[in-house]
Amino acid sequence: MLAEEKVVIPEDEKTLIEIKDLKKYFSVSRSFFKSSGQEVKAIDGISFNIREGETIGVVGESGCGKSTLGRNIIRLQKPTSGNIVFDGQDITNLSDGKLKSFRRQMQIVFQDPYASLNPKLKIGEIVGEPLRVNKAGSSAERKDKVESLLERVGLETHYYSKYPHEFSGGQRQRIGIARALTINPKFVVCDEPVSALDVSVQSQVVNLLQDLQEEYQLTYMFISHDLSVVRHISDRVAVMYLGKIVELGDTKDIYENPAHPYTRALLSAIPVPNPREQRQRERIILKGDLPSPINPPKGCRFSTRCPLATDLCREVEPELESKVNKQLVACHYAYEF
Ligand SMILES: Nc1ncnc2c1ncn2[C@@H]1O[C@H](COP(=O)(O)OP(=O)(O)OP(=O)(O)O)[C@@H](O)[C@H]1O
Ligand SMILES: [Mg+2]
Repeated sequence: MLAEEKVVIPEDEKTLIEIKDLKKYFSVSRSFFKSSGQEVKAIDGISFNIREGETIGVVGESGCGKSTLGRNIIRLQKPTSGNIVFDGQDITNLSDGKLKSFRRQMQIVFQDPYASLNPKLKIGEIVGEPLRVNKAGSSAERKDKVESLLERVGLETHYYSKYPHEFSGGQRQRIGIARALTINPKFVVCDEPVSALDVSVQSQVVNLLQDLQEEYQLTYMFISHDLSVVRHISDRVAVMYLGKIVELGDTKDIYENPAHPYTRALLSAIPVPNPREQRQRERIILKGDLPSPINPPKGCRFSTRCPLATDLCREVEPELESKVNKQLVACHYAYEF
C-alpha cells in the first residue's frame, strides 16, 4: 500500500498541496559540456500532504534534499517525475505562462538575506516588484501597499528609498518576508529563514512569521537545521534522510516519541527541556559518513549508519507507514531502541 493512502486527514483539515512520489535528479557533469551519465538523486520518491494553514517543518542533515523539495513544490524547479497538486490542480507540468498565475500563490523566503536581495534596487522596488510584474493597481496604489507591508514587517516607511546594503541581516530578512507577502500568497516555503541571523534577532523574525501566518492565513513549509526552532514553529515535522522522508508526524509525537532511529539520533544532539524525553538524553553518534546521493545504499538508505540494521534492512526498503503511534515511519524496526 502506498504511504499516502494511509494518511487519515480529519475533515476539518483541508489539504492544500498533495505531493505524490516526487523525484528530482540532477545530472552530474564531468566537464562544462559533458554529462558523466550519473545523477544526484536529490529527492527520490516523496509523498505527503500539506494541510491548509499548517506549518510543516522539514529537518535533516545538509544535502538530504530539503531545499530541493521546497523548490520543486513551488515549481522553481521542474521535478523529474511525480506530481504536485496545489489546491486541486495538478501543477507538475504547467507551462511557464500558466505557472505565472500559480506563482502568486506560492512564495519563498531564502536563507541568505544578503544574496537574495538585488543590491541595485531600492527596498520599495524590491518589495513592489511582484506587484509590478503582475500589473496590480496604479503606481500610487502599489507604493501604498508596499509602505503598509514595510510597516507590517516592522520597518519604517521611509526605508522605501534605501538600498539593501544600508540594512542589517534581520532587517533584510524582514524585507525578504515583505516581498514574499506582497501578492497575498497562500503558501510560503521558508528555507532556513533565520539560520544566517544573529541568535538575538532569530526569535523576532520567527515571531513575525508566526504573526503573519495568523493574519494572512498562510501555510508554511519551514526548512531548518535548527530542531529547537522547528519544534517551536511547526504543527507537523517531516524528517528527511538522503532524498526520502523517514518519519512524518505531529511535532509533539516526533519530539517526545521518535519512531525512527535517525530521528532519535538527530534529537539526541539537542538539549531536552521535558523530562518525558529523558531517554533521548543518551547521545547517539551516527557511524560513518552520509552516503552519496548518486549511489544511495540498497534497501534502507539509513542502513549503513543505523545501529539496528539487519540483513532485512540492507535488502528491503521500508515504506513510510503508520506503525504503533500516529506518525508515519519508514523503518522495519520502528520504536525498537
Ligand atoms: N542545482 C543542482 N545541481 C546539482 N546538484 C544539486 C543541485 N541542487 C542541489 N543539488 C544536490 O542535491 C542534493 C540535495 O541538495 P539540497 O540543497 O536540496 O539539500 P539541503 O537538504 O537543502 O542541504 P542544506 O541543509 O545544506 O541546505 C545535494 O547532494 C546537492 O549537492
Ligand atoms: Mg538547503
